[in-house]
Amino acid sequence: MHIVKTIKNLRQILHQVRRKGQKIGFVPTMGYFHEGHLSLMRQAKKECDICVVSVYVNPKQFGPKEDLGRYPRDIKRDTMMIKKENVDILFIPSDNVVYPNCYLTYIDVEKISNTLCGQYRPGHFKGVATVVAKLLNMVQPDVLYLGQKDAQQVVVLKTMAADLNFPVGIRVVPTAREKDGLAMSSRNIRLSSQERAQAPVLYKALKDAARHIKAGEGSVSKIIGRIQKTITQYSSGKIQYVACVDADTLEPLKILKGNILIALAVFFGKTRLIDNVIIPIKKSNKVQN
Ligand code: PAJ
Repeated sequence: MHIVKTIKNLRQILHQVRRKGQKIGFVPTMGYFHEGHLSLMRQAKKECDICVVSVYVNPKQFGPKEDLGRYPRDIKRDTMMIKKENVDILFIPSDNVVYPNCYLTYIDVEKISNTLCGQYRPGHFKGVATVVAKLLNMVQPDVLYLGQKDAQQVVVLKTMAADLNFPVGIRVVPTAREKDGLAMSSRNIRLSSQERAQAPVLYKALKDAARHIKAGEGSVSKIIGRIQKTITQYSSGKIQYVACVDADTLEPLKILKGNILIALAVFFGKTRLIDNVIIPIKKSNKVQN
């Protein structure tokens, strides 16, 4: 596995790869790997000749009161883990490689960056879109791999790639979960044992909502109310939001139709967890197969 820290070095290696006509898959990450990250890399290895993984904790996507300083990091452990996955190139740029002095250019995917998580994390998706645009220009992959766990991130980045004509395909990989259903996240290690025991309630509540929608429930407010009730009844989690939106546009739904995204963010202590499910419904609540 090549471990690369500069754009020049990265381009030299990728130039050779491209000359051979090899297909490049790219997995951008902030490190501290878990099975969710590895599932993206495995998918990239399956579908491409070369898998490039970046590890960069992007300061521009953290708010002033957020956990940039506390974000878990362990590049040694990460390197060991992905060597086993036969990743071809690990790109670890430093802050001055990504944002040299006098950095001034930002990408703002309007409207859809300001709903759901964006409402509570102003500037977050601007930071994400900016760093991913830059990484795409550095790596120039054929396919970008993203996790469904971050549903809004997927919609923002798909929109950015389409609007700015990035010549890249986007593959979305299903959310990897612990055995009890908790979506894997680098932040899960911060949960106390009591919080960790309660956190699976999020996916339970989402699955229960999906079941009710499939059984014919058509009221958005009833579905949201049901999820809120389950979470508050069975855990000490503090709900930030629960929303039912169109999965492609993130528009709030008045009636349950189309591709429904149910997304939520809940605090367990200081740790903010997100999760979501997508439920494909044909007109007037008929479930697609
Ligand atoms: P990070 O949180 O490290 O996640 C990197 C990628 O792994 C993202 O595409 C994310 O959706 C995916 N991922 C995380 N948990 C997952 C899970 N349980 N199942 C499947 N995929 C999962 O997301 C980011 O970093 C950053 O915002 C980034 C895109 C790298 C830009 O800085």
